[in-house]
Amino acid sequence: MALGSYPSTRLRRNRRDEWNRRLVAENKLSPDDFILPMFVAEGRNSREPIASMPGVDRHSVDQLVQVVGEAKAMGIPAIAIFPEVDPAAKTPDAREAYNPDGLVCRTIKAVKDAHPDMGVICDAALDPFNSDGHDGLVRDGYVVNDESVELLCRQSVVQAEAGCDVIAPSDMMDGRVGAIRKALDDAGFESVRIMSYAAKYASAFYGPFRDAIGSGAALKGDKKTYQMDPANTDEAIREVAQDIDEGADMIMVKPGLPYLDIVHRVKQEFGIPTYAYQVSGEYAMLKGAANNGWLDNDRVVLESLMAFKRAGADGILTYMAIEASRLLDSR
Ligand code: PBG
Repeated sequence: MALGSYPSTRLRRNRRDEWNRRLVAENKLSPDDFILPMFVAEGRNSREPIASMPGVDRHSVDQLVQVVGEAKAMGIPAIAIFPEVDPAAKTPDAREAYNPDGLVCRTIKAVKDAHPDMGVICDAALDPFNSDGHDGLVRDGYVVNDESVELLCRQSVVQAEAGCDVIAPSDMMDGRVGAIRKALDDAGFESVRIMSYAAKYASAFYGPFRDAIGSGAALKGDKKTYQMDPANTDEAIREVAQDIDEGADMIMVKPGLPYLDIVHRVKQEFGIPTYAYQVSGEYAMLKGAANNGWLDNDRVVLESLMAFKRAGADGILTYMAIEASRLLDSR
């Protein structure tokens, strides 16, 4: 890149005025970029705050549908549903994961009834339903792969039957994307998309999420035998390559801000629709500081989201989707 030298070139010139800064802006944030993750719980007409995620509630299905309406009005294209399952329904075989009358399927139907054109994304993973808190089945203290994949396929088909548009395998078992693709196709759901949590790290930033769905207290051990080591980059590329090969339509990197190098590299190498998950712990950090008056809330909300765009993300799963859309709208 040829760059004239000072004083003929003064890079500050293009920053001098607001109109000029807008004209040279390389990235833009819009509600089109956001996916809103939402927590659903049993009950009616209830909104329960989550202590470690100030400003985020667990909604009963009816209340969740109402918030989906707000998200839709702001122009947000999709939501992701996460259930807080009654502890009595959690078992070591996680059978509630593929209950067609379970909380997730009832939520999908209610959202789709009220808002048919809102994109609905659901995890394929066993942790909300598993009394061991793991994403797969535990046998002799180890999370087994192939048997878990069979259950993830059943879970995916049941969710597709309920009306889910996008299955998001978040379990990190080997071979699950290909198996889920085949199961969906065999059941006649060739249009149901797969957004793979392809590069998902064994991160401490998921703590507040585990409070929200009640999987943390139950969790035996950690998830290091299936989620990735935060030390690794090349391995993420191999994970993504494999998931694309198996039929993933979209790729996710998770967590978000601490892993922007991975987002960037994935987008550069594959050019596939690439999403980042600004996870619960990132939300908690930001809100914790803002609520203490240590950070300017509105500015850090938008700056943190812009960072994802700059890194190359096509979209962001963020608990701040509605708030950020309002801020963008009011500018
Ligand atoms: C479950 C799942 C997790 C998140 C999304 N799906 C947690 C985990 O793997 O323990 C985390 C999201 C967040 O922290 O916001 N497979």
